[in-house]
Amino acid sequence: MKKQEIQNLYNKYNVPKNIQQHMRLVCDVALFLGKKIKKNAPKLNLHNLRSAALIHDLAKILETTEAKYKKIGHANALKQIIPQKKYADIVKIASKHEIHSIFATKKSTRPTTIEEKILYYSDKRVQGQKIVSLRDRLSTCMKNYYGEQPIPQNGLDIMEAAIALESELCELAAILPRDINNKSVLN
Ligand SMILES: [Fe+2]
Repeated sequence: MKKQEIQNLYNKYNVPKNIQQHMRLVCDVALFLGKKIKKNAPKLNLHNLRSAALIHDLAKILETTEAKYKKIGHANALKQIIPQKKYADIVKIASKHEIHSIFATKKSTRPTTIEEKILYYSDKRVQGQKIVSLRDRLSTCMKNYYGEQPIPQNGLDIMEAAIALESELCELAAILPRDINNKSVLN
């Protein structure tokens, strides 16, 4: 996707500046990690990864304002608002980033390709417009979902799967999770 096409989508769907900044930072993290992983996975498509990162939360506002999108969630909403024929590969990557996707009942909706995994994980390292640890991001997510109640088994399964994914990707990139930080990524 060209820069202008992405900007046109931001304008069309009234994406607030803070969400645009969030997607740009997720994109920076994804490319930082993706470039390192590409050495071990030459087929990794950095162009599609970049585009998917830049649109992954495009439907965040639609999800809150329109019932039909609320029902399917902002990640799945992308399938309905982006021209599928032209951008099927990008939409597929971007539609698997929601926290629960990693442990989705339907295996086909879990992040499985390397691009899908990198985007999922990169989004879990960015809270708003800040790079945070996976642990911090997960605990905020769990608090938002369950408040002060104990985290149910499904939540624990999600956390475990996300932590396993972090190990898998950092090993592929030959880095430690803490090597992904504001200094290294924004350099
Ligand atoms: Fe996000």
